[in-house]
Amino acid sequence: MTSMWMPFSAYMQEALYGLNGYYMIDRNRFGKSGDFFTSAQVSPVFSELWASFVMQKVAEGEYRIVEFGPGDGDFAISLLTALLRMDDRMIHYAGIEVSPAGRERLADKLKVLRDKASDDRLDVSVYSSLDELQKCQPDAWDGCFVFANEWLDAFPCDVVRVSRNGLVESLWVSKTIETSPPSSDVAGPFQGEYLQTEWKISGDQKLLSYVNKWMVPLFQDYEEDRLVAEVSLESLAAVTQVVEKIHPGVMALVDYGGYTVDVIGEDRPNGSLRAFREHQLVDRFLDYQGQVDLTYDVDFSPVISLFQQLEYGTSLKKQGMFLVTQPFFEQVVNERAASDPSVYQAIKTLVLPGGMGERFFVLLAERGYQK
Ligand SMILES: C[S@@+](CC[C@H](N)C(=O)[O-])C[C@H]1O[C@@H](n2cnc3c(N)ncnc32)[C@H](O)[C@@H]1O
Repeated sequence: MTSMWMPFSAYMQEALYGLNGYYMIDRNRFGKSGDFFTSAQVSPVFSELWASFVMQKVAEGEYRIVEFGPGDGDFAISLLTALLRMDDRMIHYAGIEVSPAGRERLADKLKVLRDKASDDRLDVSVYSSLDELQKCQPDAWDGCFVFANEWLDAFPCDVVRVSRNGLVESLWVSKTIETSPPSSDVAGPFQGEYLQTEWKISGDQKLLSYVNKWMVPLFQDYEEDRLVAEVSLESLAAVTQVVEKIHPGVMALVDYGGYTVDVIGEDRPNGSLRAFREHQLVDRFLDYQGQVDLTYDVDFSPVISLFQQLEYGTSLKKQGMFLVTQPFFEQVVNERAASDPSVYQAIKTLVLPGGMGERFFVLLAERGYQK
């Protein structure tokens, strides 16, 4: 029997993006026949409302839009269709998607859209990484509009447990390879490969300084003696890279979560890490490595602080409030309703408290913008 221990973030990286990882295989992930819905699949009206926002933000010149983690392209297609209809300016769109199957589906849909567009106003490209985009089109995207829906929550995270007495532990995962597997209650798809977890005292300086800044101060106001949270240093590094490499004029990040006090606390003694498959929560997800989506609530406070260090102005709003306060909200919804009466139900899902309207937040970061 051999064991190989790794931090949870390394496990999650492998489970989602490694060989045969959840996002690397060809699988229906999004929508009714998949594992989960994002706002983009609830209704095209989500993207159409964003198109009206983009139009106002990019008040003049050509559109330059970079989308991170576009998945199968549901947001991109509705957004671009709406922009082509509402405006006659040139549109450049680049999708950066790590999933090969996602890239293929996005590229196919973009091709259909481009073929349908009667003029040459649409310039689209798909890349696997920011580095690839920069290599192929250096400097083309400076000052662009960046959008990402449910991108932050898809980065690998560590799970940390912090005690009032100062002890900081992080979750580790071990693969135990057994030559003759016990035919016990292990339900996963593995043949002789089992996964177990253990809390280990953390000596990771980056993790410790994050914990000191964002978690330890909570003990002043909280009664709990122990807090558990997901920490994604990788997502913060990715945001930094985007800003440093393409200097977006506006960056819009949409995700479930909230401020630190919303995502860490007594109602979450085990954090928010969860796994989905076919619209069901999967309890023993370690047994299903690569077969389930792993995700967690995003703590926007460190992301906001990062943007401020990078000299971006920020605002964080609940998705419901953000969408209904768009100046063209009624017009966009009514136009969609003319061909699709189900839009009213979809709008309720997207904006009402209790649904996506309150659980999802819109973080807007704007270069040179003063609050
Ligand atoms: C939860 S899905 C959201 C998909 C889409 N935005 C939507 O709303 O339907 C997250 C997507 O981000 C992609 N992704 C994760 N990390 C990425 C990275 N570093 N660069 C590009 N795409 C990434 C995943 O492959 C996946 O398609």
